[in-house]
Amino acid sequence: MPAIVLIGAQWGDEGKGKATDLLGSRVDYVVKFNGGNNAGHTIVINGDKFALHLLPSGILSENCIPVIGNGVVIDLEVLFQEIDALEARGRSAAKLRISADAHVIPPYNTTLDKVTERFAGSRKIGTTGRGIGPTYADKMNRIGIRVQDLFDEAILRGKVTAALNLKNQILSKIYNRRALDVEAVLSELLSYTERLRPYVDNTALLLHEALDEGKTVLLEAGQATMLDVDHGNYPYVTSSSATAGGACTGSGIPPTRVSRVIAIVKAYSTRVGEGPFPTELLHEKGDALRNAGVEFGTTTGRPRRTGWFDVPVARYAARINGVTDFVLTKLDVLTGMPEVPVCVGYEIDGQRIADMPMTQSEFARAVPVYETFPGWEDDISKARSLDDLPANARDYVTAVESMIGARISVIGVGPGREESIVVHDLLGD
Ligand code: GDP
Ligand code: IMO
Ligand code: MG
Repeated sequence: MPAIVLIGAQWGDEGKGKATDLLGSRVDYVVKFNGGNNAGHTIVINGDKFALHLLPSGILSENCIPVIGNGVVIDLEVLFQEIDALEARGRSAAKLRISADAHVIPPYNTTLDKVTERFAGSRKIGTTGRGIGPTYADKMNRIGIRVQDLFDEAILRGKVTAALNLKNQILSKIYNRRALDVEAVLSELLSYTERLRPYVDNTALLLHEALDEGKTVLLEAGQATMLDVDHGNYPYVTSSSATAGGACTGSGIPPTRVSRVIAIVKAYSTRVGEGPFPTELLHEKGDALRNAGVEFGTTTGRPRRTGWFDVPVARYAARINGVTDFVLTKLDVLTGMPEVPVCVGYEIDGQRIADMPMTQSEFARAVPVYETFPGWEDDISKARSLDDLPANARDYVTAVESMIGARISVIGVGPGREESIVVHDLLGD
């Protein structure tokens, strides 16, 4: 089996972690290809809850090799905290492979992320404050620090000195913060070198050889399509490529080896941070959906903004990513709602459109056009086939499927690994 890509179709937190974990025992490698510890994936196994940020979700499957690809940015302190926490719960991270080309989040970028947001005031993005944006900016500016640099002190010293020459000016002269000391930053980074050494690998080569041997490789996105730096609601996005194209650049696997693209989509919408959100529900309605779905951030604990399912967003994700299969998650959260509205298009300046508009300002002005479906009362968390669903829930799924541009292969009816309806095998035909 060639490579499989798994991405988020909305604004993140669709349940990618659970879907990856579900496939974990059947795939040989799970590769995180973008983002860093801005991600938060909650996985529930036999009632046991795990929150992962930097480690690929495959780490919880015994026979699966987790890989942090070259497209990821790594906060080393967080990496080892997460490994320690996992090992304290009897799970091993020994098989983890980390790309020598991945970038490291130096301490000055976490500081810069936070002060930049504070300085922006009402124009803030609402970032996770983890140093993600400044570290990807450094990568593009060619002043980034890579994992491999930690193994050559002279090179690391030169890079940190060059970066701080610039960053200290910004920190002290613009943000009125204390300049950072080169030696202190160096010694912090170098304190991780020996612990990091056994995990570091030529991961692109490793994955190519695995594919040549017929192994299955799952490329797992952090964030989601609407947060992608190119295809999302720029500038209210993260700073990496969270779409299927990013899976190739972020891992070194070429597009010709990808046979399937799985998109995770929630049965309603959520978003954390600033930016346009046409179907957003405010006040009590938003609170009700947030409480029903327990929509609070895995990473920052922030309450997630909530809204109804947005068909143009899902269809856009299907196109941008070449989606072959959708996993529709959290259908159980809609149980008990008298009716379930679905946004089937937008009205923008008096004109009805069915797809994502061309510009960001049009999207910000988009007024959702809803089609309303009757709700259902029966608990669906025990459903394991479509036939187990109440007719109204089945009709909702069928209607959504007919509008979003690819089949719905799995339906989530609860957070647990087993709480899923598999309509089509995600690894089968
Ligand atoms: P990710 O960032 O895409 O991996 O998603 P998160 O883990 O941040 O958020 C998804 C949340 O929904 C987690 O708490 C999951 O345990 C939970 N979840 C996933 N699928 C389902 C589902 O089908 N039903 C319910 N009720 N919860 C789910
Ligand atoms: P997972 O992988 C939801 C959002 C932040 C902010 C914007 C930019 O769990 O789906 P950043 O710190 O990345 O520069 O913040 O992106 N964001 C997420 N929202 N889920 C995530 O990850 C996110 N990662 C970043 O809230 O609006
Ligand atoms: Mg999340």
